[in-house]
Amino acid sequence: MSKNISLILMGCGGVGRQLLQHIVSCRSLHAKQGIHLRVVGVSDSKSLLVASDAFTMELPDDFLLEVCRAKSNGASLSTLSGYGEFQVLVNSESTKKIVDVAAFLGKSTGLALVDCSASSDTIPVLTQAVDLDCCIVMANKKPLTSTMEDYDKLVSHPRHIRHESTVGAGLPVIASLNRILSSGDPVHRIIGSLSGTLGYVMSELEGGKLLSQVVRSAKNLGYTEPDPRDDLSGMDVARKALILARLLGQRINLDDIKIESLYPEEMAPSVMSIEDFLGSGLLLLDKNIQERVSKASLDGKVLRYVCVIEDSSCEVGIQELPKDSALGRLRGSDNVLEVYSRCYKDQPLVIQGAGAGNDTTAAGVLADIVDIQDLFP
Ligand SMILES: NC(=O)c1ccc[n+]([C@@H]2O[C@H](COP(=O)([O-])OP(=O)(O)OC[C@H]3O[C@@H](n4cnc5c(N)ncnc54)[C@H](OP(=O)(O)O)[C@@H]3O)[C@@H](O)[C@H]2O)c1
Ligand SMILES: *[C@@H]1O[C@H](CO)[C@@H](O)[C@H](O)[C@H]1NC(C)=O
Repeated sequence: MSKNISLILMGCGGVGRQLLQHIVSCRSLHAKQGIHLRVVGVSDSKSLLVASDAFTMELPDDFLLEVCRAKSNGASLSTLSGYGEFQVLVNSESTKKIVDVAAFLGKSTGLALVDCSASSDTIPVLTQAVDLDCCIVMANKKPLTSTMEDYDKLVSHPRHIRHESTVGAGLPVIASLNRILSSGDPVHRIIGSLSGTLGYVMSELEGGKLLSQVVRSAKNLGYTEPDPRDDLSGMDVARKALILARLLGQRINLDDIKIESLYPEEMAPSVMSIEDFLGSGLLLLDKNIQERVSKASLDGKVLRYVCVIEDSSCEVGIQELPKDSALGRLRGSDNVLEVYSRCYKDQPLVIQGAGAGNDTTAAGVLADIVDIQDLFP
C-alpha cells in the first residue's frame, strides 16, 4: 500500500515539463519508497487540465507525456481536450477550479501546489491554498519576492512549504540554511555568486578578455537569457538575495536592495534595441570594467558579481574578492555560496555546483515534493 502525494503543477515550461518526465521515470523508485505522486492537474498561462474527479482520479502517465510533447511543440494545454476523463478550464475559471480542488483535497487526502511558472499571477492561488492546509512547492521566485504580507502568508506553516529551486536550482542552499538556523547557529554573512551567466562572465574577464567578447560568447554558449541584459541587470540575483535575506529574518522588499547593473540606464531595453546593445553599446562598457579588473588584480583580488547579505544589509553587485577564496576560484557557470555563522566562522560553509538548467531545477522540485510526504495521510 503506497502513500499518495496529490499535486497540481502550475507552469509547463522547460522546468515543469522536465518535472513531469522525472515523475514518470521515477515511478518504480518511488514505489520502492512506498510513495506515489498523483498528478491531478496541470496548468499553463491560459488553461488548466484537471481530473474530472480529483478525489479518485489522476492524470495517467501517457497523458502527462503527451502534455510534454504538446507544450514543447508550442501548443496550448487546451488543445489536448478530448483525450480522456478530465476537464479543461480556461482563464479565471482555472484559478477558481484550483482553489476548489485545494479546498476539497487540502484537508482530506492532502494536496501540493507546485509552482513552476515564472509569473506573479499564481500568488493569490498559493496564499489561498496555504489557508486550505495545502503544501506549496516553488521553483518560481516571484511569490517569495512580492510584498512582506504575501511572504508572511506563504511561510506561515514552515513545514508546508519548500522552495529549494528558487536559489541555486537543485543545490541544497535553502535546506542547508534552514538546518543551520534551526540549530540556533546564527548566520551573519552570506556571499554568493548566484547567476551562472555572471559567474562565467566575471571569471573570464580575469584572463584579460573584454566584457563585450565574454558576453557575446556567453550568449553563444546559451548561458544567457535571450536578451543578456536580463542577466546583466542583476535583477534575478536580487530576487535570490531577497529570498535569502528574508530567510535570515530581514523584513525587506526588492526596492530596499542596492543593485548594481552592469549597463547604464541609457542602454536599457526600453531605450536601446538588443542589436544595438550587442553591437555597439557593450563596447562602451569594456574600458571601465577592464580597469577595475586590473586594479583588483594588483591586490591579489578578482571581481565577482555577488549578493552580500549581512545582519541588516543586502546588496547585489561587483565585489573584489581574494583570488584563493571559494568565490575567487570560481570558473565557468557554477554557482558558489559562502555561508558564515558561529560554527562556520573562519572557514565558511561552501555550496557549489550547477545553479541552473531544467534538469537540475526540476530534480530540486521533485526532491522537495518527496520531502513533504509525511504531511500526506
Ligand atoms: N530554467 C532554470 O534553469 C531555472 C532555474 C531556477 C529556477 N527557475 C524558475 O523556474 C520557473 C520555471 O522556469 P522555466 O524555465 O520552466 O520557465 P518557462 O519555460 O518560461 O515556463 C513558464 C511556464 O509557466 C506558465 N505560466 C505562466 N503564467 C502562469 C500562470 N498564471 N499559471 C500557470 N502557469 C503559468 C507558462 O505558460 P505558457 O506555456 O502558456 O506560456 C509556461 O508554461 C521560473 O520561475 C524560473 O525562474 C528556472
Ligand atoms: C530548458 O527548456 C527549454 C524549453 O524546452 C529549452 O528551450 C532550453 O534550452 C532548456 N534549457 C536547458 C539549459 O536545457
